[in-house]
Amino acid sequence: MEKKIKIIKNGPYEVSPDIPLVQSIIEIDGEGTSMRWKNGKEYPKQNEPYHLCRCGRSENKPYCDGSHEKETGAYRKKFDGTEVATHDSDKLNTRIYEGPELTLIDEESLCASLRFCDRGPRVWNAVLHSDEDYLKQMAIEESCDCAAGRLTVVDKEGNVYEPKLDQEIGLVQDTAANCRGPLWVKGGIPVEGSDGRQYKIRNRMTLCRCGQSKNMPFCDTSHRRSENMYGFDE
Ligand code: FES
Repeated sequence: MEKKIKIIKNGPYEVSPDIPLVQSIIEIDGEGTSMRWKNGKEYPKQNEPYHLCRCGRSENKPYCDGSHEKETGAYRKKFDGTEVATHDSDKLNTRIYEGPELTLIDEESLCASLRFCDRGPRVWNAVLHSDEDYLKQMAIEESCDCAAGRLTVVDKEGNVYEPKLDQEIGLVQDTAANCRGPLWVKGGIPVEGSDGRQYKIRNRMTLCRCGQSKNMPFCDTSHRRSENMYGFDE
C-alpha cells in the first residue's frame, strides 16, 4: 500500500499505518534560541490507518477524538478545514537571495516560525557572506534545520542542500514557546488533499494541527497564538 497522508474534508489527517510517529523536540540554549532537533517519544506502531488531529480541539492529542464535529460548548461550529494553499509554485511568492557561494530560496508563506534561521548569524546574512567558510556552514545548517522547507540553499553548481530524513511524522514540541507545533512531515511523504489532489512532494514540510492556519493545510505559525496548543504532547 502506498504510504501517504490523506486530508479528510473538515476532519483529521489519515495516515498510512507504516508511517512512524515521533516527537520532534526543539532543543534550546539558555536564551531560548532553537539549537538542534532531538527525537523524543515514539508512538506505538499502528496496524490500520490512524488519524491525527487537524482541528486542535482533540482531548487526546495527537490523535483525533471526533471533536472536529462539535458544535457545542466552546465550539459553536464544526471545524472548517478548507484548504487554501496554492498547488501552483508560481504563486508561492518565492524570494531568491544570491550570495557569493550560495543562493537562498525563501518561500515565506511556508514559515512555521521554529526559528533555527535566527541561530547565530541569520541565514539571509550568512548566505550574502557565504564566501566565508563559517557563514557558509551556518547558512547550510540553518536552512536544513528549517522543518517547514521554507528555506533551501543551493550552491553555484546547482547542488541542493537537503538533510537526510527518514520518512516519519514529527510532532513538533516548541520548547521555548511552550506549545505544540505543527506536524513535521519528513522524507517526502505524499500528502493528498481532501479533493484528491496531491501536494508537491517535499523532503520537509509542516502541516497545521491547531486548526487556525490561514494557509491550510500548511502551518502558518498560528499555533503560537492558540490556547489549544499550550503545553506538549504526552
Ligand atoms: S481533527 Fe478530529 S478532533 Fe481534531
